Amino acid sequence: MEQYAIRGGTPLEGEVTIAGAKNAALGILAAAIMTDEEVVVENVPFVSDTRTLLKAMENIGAKVRYLDRHTVVINGSGIRGDRGLSVDDEYIRKIRASYYLIGALLGKYRYANVALPGGCDIGSRPIDLHIKGFETLGAKVDIVSGGKVVAEAEELTGAHIYLDTVSVGATINIMLAATLAEGKTTIENAAKEPHIVDVANFLNTMGANIKGAGTDVIRVRGVSRLHGAEYSIIPDQIEAGTFMAMAVATRGNVLIRNVIPKHLEAISSKLVDMGARVIEYDDSVRVMADGALRSTQVKTLPYPGFPTDMQAQIATALCLSDGISIVTESIFENRFRYVAELIRMGAKIRVEGNTAIITGVPGFTGANLTASDLRAGAALVIAALAAEGVSFIDDIQYVKRGYEDFDTKIRALGGEIEIVDSERSRQKFKLKVV
Ligand code: UD1
Repeated sequence: MEQYAIRGGTPLEGEVTIAGAKNAALGILAAAIMTDEEVVVENVPFVSDTRTLLKAMENIGAKVRYLDRHTVVINGSGIRGDRGLSVDDEYIRKIRASYYLIGALLGKYRYANVALPGGCDIGSRPIDLHIKGFETLGAKVDIVSGGKVVAEAEELTGAHIYLDTVSVGATINIMLAATLAEGKTTIENAAKEPHIVDVANFLNTMGANIKGAGTDVIRVRGVSRLHGAEYSIIPDQIEAGTFMAMAVATRGNVLIRNVIPKHLEAISSKLVDMGARVIEYDDSVRVMADGALRSTQVKTLPYPGFPTDMQAQIATALCLSDGISIVTESIFENRFRYVAELIRMGAKIRVEGNTAIITGVPGFTGANLTASDLRAGAALVIAALAAEGVSFIDDIQYVKRGYEDFDTKIRALGGEIEIVDSERSRQKFKLKVV
């Protein structure tokens, strides 16, 4: 089994270039099969989640071709749009974003049969809002044996949909189906994350008529068909935020390139509260920290609030700050599973319900750790880079779901990290003279 081997204690310095946004890519790649013409998507992050989704699309007949590592050409004309269509393979259940194929296929063929989504285990992640949205558009949706969602409609008709909870996935999924419905759909209390705007912009480039993405009311006027397009995905807000937190936790100085600074405001502002310096340029940010860090309070909220996908990483940096910090998770239950691992490194954290109370400590010590999900895994990498001594992190497949070349990028910043897969390589890393 592969592990990260990390020797901590080096402040990270240099430049890192951020990949395309994973969560935007998942929506956009699924949407690309809604036309029978060729679609070229650029800046696709080369991570296991996007490759898994593309494999599932190929398995139902889409043609997928990589022009280079980040550019994918997709042609959805070969998909059999009849009742024989079924998305189910050993991989698709591992990624939550497989649910976007329900909206895309339902819109295009008025029929979808997709294995129920998996993804990171960060609490109960229902899809009731997605289902309610499809039903309001006129579809009949059943969860059949084998854990599959079957959605079908004689006709899809635009409707007024109010989301009880702000949901990224439901907003995108309803937008996908409504794009090829008849008439006008209004999605109220829509999520406003940057990747929602990106998916809407992509659909509009294919000929859709979507207005208001990025606000809490999205209006979709259905069109009868979509056409081919070329599109480049926005940079990944969370990958950028992760490197920002890493720079701060290791007291480093990192220029983070290919970002949209506006998308990082909630993260930047918390890091500044902690005593870090964040300088914004047009498409990059420099993050610097030296000396003592201060405690602060963080509450995760839908965009433009502080992202839940950055909660574990900032909490890790807060463990190394003076005073008492409070971190409140208001989006998902069960998103503090990394806490037990940090405690083994010397952190002082008490979790009460959806709140973590963190008392700052001067430093961490290296340990054998296990990643429990994607962002928790990233947080443990940050902790290990800031720690005294050597750490080994198990279950790095979670991290690979969403971070492209994570170890290579960290090494380029001077961080000591390697992927090891045998006792011999572990020993070799431990004995390496620094
Ligand atoms: C997406 C992101 C994930 C991020 C999350 C919140 C993707 C592939 N994943 O996940 O990285 O952490 O947004 O920013 O883009 N809910 C319901 N019913 C539903 C759907 C959601 O009750 O039908 C609840 C969830 O349990 C959660 C909240 O709504 O409490 C927000 O979830 P949602 O925004 O839907 O998250 P995802 O789309 O799964």
